[in-house]
Amino acid sequence: MSEREKVTLPRLFQKVEEGEPITMLTCYDFPTASFQDQAGVDMILVGDSLGMTMLGYDSTLPVTMDDMIRHSQAVRRGAPNAWLIGDMPYMSYQPSVETAIRNAGRFMAEAACDAIKLEGGAEMADRMAGIVAAGIPAMGHLGLTPQSVTALGGFRVQGRGAEQAKRIADDAKALEDAGAFAILLELVPDRVCQIITERAKNCFIISLGSGPHAHGQLLIYHDMFGLYPKFKPRMAKVFADAGAVILEGLKQYVQEVNDRSFPQPENWFGMPDEEYEELLRMLD
Ligand code: KIV
Repeated sequence: MSEREKVTLPRLFQKVEEGEPITMLTCYDFPTASFQDQAGVDMILVGDSLGMTMLGYDSTLPVTMDDMIRHSQAVRRGAPNAWLIGDMPYMSYQPSVETAIRNAGRFMAEAACDAIKLEGGAEMADRMAGIVAAGIPAMGHLGLTPQSVTALGGFRVQGRGAEQAKRIADDAKALEDAGAFAILLELVPDRVCQIITERAKNCFIISLGSGPHAHGQLLIYHDMFGLYPKFKPRMAKVFADAGAVILEGLKQYVQEVNDRSFPQPENWFGMPDEEYEELLRMLD
């Protein structure tokens, strides 16, 4: 298990100050969390993308608070030292500031998260401010925000035009003013990300498919290891095709059971002859 020091918010801001990039990945389960903590990942996001990557839905919308809490608890058990962010699922914060604070509090109290993330810009600034005022560090999420994928017209780049890019920059300012410690920019052009990063004073910027100029990078774990069978987003780099390795192993298992080359003696346990004889006598 991990021996590293616990990542704290001052440590994250120190990295930003010293120009060191922040690393961030999604994670949804205990063993993966353990690997990520050992690898030294700074921030782990238990994303509501688990609705797609782990539960097989076509979108993140069906994910519930109880789903998120269960997965966040497992990740915290595997990664005691990474800065753990619980992703607020659809309709867990949109209805009111009070709903937002109560559900953000569940991530902290029930799953020992360090922070939460929510989607949306100026229209969510009051939720962000309420959560921060309750003492809970909160991260914003702009650009492609999957909970609004229908309104955005699909999983596509946001802010290619100047007008929309200006709106995203204004939203980033509104979230920063509301107290966000960080903002994730998903699928916005690199130059838009650069401008927002340069303007950020009291928060840092994380890029997901938004170029190299942010303070840190995020990838979806399943994309970087070829573990999501439905599609591979263009911006994701496959660091190792674990999905192909697993599929090969599974095919080999099926073949070996069918041709009776598995199991071998090292895969089972015997019993002493005298105990076996005694058992046969007892069964007669
Ligand atoms: O749910 C998630 O994993 C996310 C990422 C797309 C950033 O919000």
